[in-house]
Amino acid sequence: MNINKIKEDFNILNKKINGKPYVYLDSACMSLKPILVVNKIIEYYANYPTCGGRSNYKLAKDVTWNVEETRRLVKKFINAKYEEEIIFNRNTTEGINLIAKNFDNVLITDREHNSNLIPWKNKIIVNSKKDFTFDFEAFQSKVKGVKLVSFVWTSNLDGYSLPVKEIIKIAHENDSLVMLDAAQAVPHREVNVNGLDVDFLVFSGHKMLGPTGTGILYGKKDLLNKMKPLILGGGTVYDSTYASYKLEDIPKRFEAGLQDYSGIIGLSEAIRYLGKYLDDLESHEKKLIKYLYDNLDVEHVGVNNYALNSSIFNFNLKNRDSHEVAIMLDQMENICVRSGAHCVHSWFNKHNIKGSVRASVYLYNDLNDVKILIECIDKLKKLG
Ligand code: ALA
Repeated sequence: MNINKIKEDFNILNKKINGKPYVYLDSACMSLKPILVVNKIIEYYANYPTCGGRSNYKLAKDVTWNVEETRRLVKKFINAKYEEEIIFNRNTTEGINLIAKNFDNVLITDREHNSNLIPWKNKIIVNSKKDFTFDFEAFQSKVKGVKLVSFVWTSNLDGYSLPVKEIIKIAHENDSLVMLDAAQAVPHREVNVNGLDVDFLVFSGHKMLGPTGTGILYGKKDLLNKMKPLILGGGTVYDSTYASYKLEDIPKRFEAGLQDYSGIIGLSEAIRYLGKYLDDLESHEKKLIKYLYDNLDVEHVGVNNYALNSSIFNFNLKNRDSHEVAIMLDQMENICVRSGAHCVHSWFNKHNIKGSVRASVYLYNDLNDVKILIECIDKLKKLG
């Protein structure tokens, strides 16, 4: 991967503030967008800024074609069987809420993001092992009789990936369905929903170089066909009277109202762009994370094994608040990291930790970015 060349595609990485470029290490929260994606959004607003899926004039047909082209690309990208198994929404959170409306009995882990914790009414929790890795024994003892297992694939806390293949196999042997929160997985590696035999998968476009306000829910066709929408309204029904309505087929029944056409269409370019680098991405990110492990002497938060973690390094400095560290890194060298509880408050509360500093890398980061972070941390440590 030619990172210098990749950096050229991201406007913000070519800008300077106080004479220095940004060191963007917060892609686990939100990825940057290549100029191709920005241009695709402009193309929509400049050339066919109308509504898809409804009207029959040429401009509207252009919108419909481009939206459906994105659906085809997503289907291929995650190797789904049918286009209608791809549902556009705003983000991972919305996808999980839709599933939560349809299932009331769920098994989750103790490291779920708020979005895969709060929406569930009746939840059973699988605790991690002492080293924070997945506990198969605990899982096996709790999975019986559960309708749905809803686990994070790659954690936004520490980049640890759960052994999802084995989890899905065990869950299915127990007649449980599986939903994976793949917000931190799809942006970084090849995902094959068909090969995995996962029942539902949710992820966000904005973490994979795509526009904000774009998310995807994948679901097996026969399951989606039995499910209720989260939001009702225009586009979700094919007929209505004052007393009743008939729901549309999938995916339409889940895409209520006018959609984020510019976002969905912009996402098509993100998928094309990401597709070029996906083969080499994980090993590139792992190299950067290993460099942090090898060169940063800090209090590690989460699974402390670089071989098990991808793209995320989570830590604390002794006697320093995580927000204070993040603000100082920004002031020193324009370093963007996230601090606090990263929407996994439950995990931090359980372990009695106030928060942490999280550096996350992506395809536009190089060794120099990571070295700048290390230098700044070393300076902060010397300050005491
Ligand atoms: N899930 C996002 C993060 O981890 C918000 O930063």
